[in-house]
Amino acid sequence: MSARFNLQCILKFSLSPLIFSAFIIPLWACLGKSTGHLESVKFQQYYVVGEQLYNKNCSNCHQKSGEGLGLLYPPLSKSDFMDNNVEKVFCLMKYGVSGEISVNALHYNKPMPGIPSLTELEIAELSTYIYNTWGHHKGIIETEQVVQVINACEQ
Ligand code: HEC
Repeated sequence: MSARFNLQCILKFSLSPLIFSAFIIPLWACLGKSTGHLESVKFQQYYVVGEQLYNKNCSNCHQKSGEGLGLLYPPLSKSDFMDNNVEKVFCLMKYGVSGEISVNALHYNKPMPGIPSLTELEIAELSTYIYNTWGHHKGIIETEQVVQVINACEQ
């Protein structure tokens, strides 16, 4: 009986890692991949729509290249202001901004008109675009992040 028990025991112990690696690890890998895939589809959608919105609403001042225009329109490209003020950036798209601001050690002081009709989704799409282009790599900006901020903007 003890021989049988031992055999069972040995079988169990030697099979369980096999079962684990044969089924659980691939399953886990698949699950990981599929949510990753869904997220990247959403990222792509936000990015593509964001680019269209940018070209329509922002590029005449900040340029398609994001480089801005001299000391009139500040650059979004590699902008340290953007990196340090994500919430302000949500607000300024909708409500505009005025007063002196500094971007990459240069000073700008010219009012930017806001676009009050922008929805929270559109602000998230625009942000996903500008925060993942021209040296920025923030990943997707979710609509929920914008919703949390937008009602508290100083207008
Ligand atoms: C009419 C020209 C104009 C348009 C259109 C415009 N901006 Fe601006 N933007 C400005 C100016 C001018 C400033 C600097 C404001 C200041 O000096 O206080 C600015 C500042 C900014 C800043 C902060 C400074 C920086 O460079 O990081 C961001 C970010 C920004 N704009 C993004 C956008 C986005 C996104 C859009 C489109 C939804 C947009 N702007 C549309 C003129 C414009």
